Amino acid sequence: MERDIARVIITQEQLAHRISELGAEIAAVYPPNEDLTMVTILSGSIVFFSDLIRQLPMKMHIGLITVSSYGGATTESRGPQLLDDLNVDVTGHHVLIVDDILDTGRTLRMVRNRMADRGVRSVRAAVLLRKTAKAPADVHAEFVGFDIEDEFVVGYGLDYNNLYRNLPHVAVLKPELY
Ligand code: PRP
Repeated sequence: MERDIARVIITQEQLAHRISELGAEIAAVYPPNEDLTMVTILSGSIVFFSDLIRQLPMKMHIGLITVSSYGGATTESRGPQLLDDLNVDVTGHHVLIVDDILDTGRTLRMVRNRMADRGVRSVRAAVLLRKTAKAPADVHAEFVGFDIEDEFVVGYGLDYNNLYRNLPHVAVLKPELY
């Protein structure tokens, strides 16, 4: 797997350090003793989500929602499709949506809108990566790990054709693989 990598963008150490900082930023925002549900957008956010929640000291509920835009061997979004809706009731809860990457923003826009329709107390979003050149102004993430260039990245949950999610760092693949 490592031989397919052209370049590491973010190392394991950088990821661990920044996620620890993000945990502190998030913990400072949420009042104790109010219901918080962390909603992970499957599948890309699984690694980031599991590391982030273990940096948070407060009690929380966990919610899952599955949205997919990049099926098969493609780097082009076909638009977000809801594959599995949220599996828990978030009425009256603070909701923190967690995703691996904010790219065109269409996934996060869709999930934010769905949460707002459910009578929640607040909705915020945390993304590990944000493509600054592409993320639209109307799709906001309150917590951002890293701003990156507009290039296709894999690893730490992000895939190409459902591979490379288990790379421990964020990387760019060799061009001949696409
Ligand atoms: C990826 C990623 C984000 C979304 C971001 O998911 O995990 O959820 O695309 O792209 P956008 O900002 O352009 O909407 P993908 O659809 O590839 O599914 P996956 O999470 O199963 O990899």
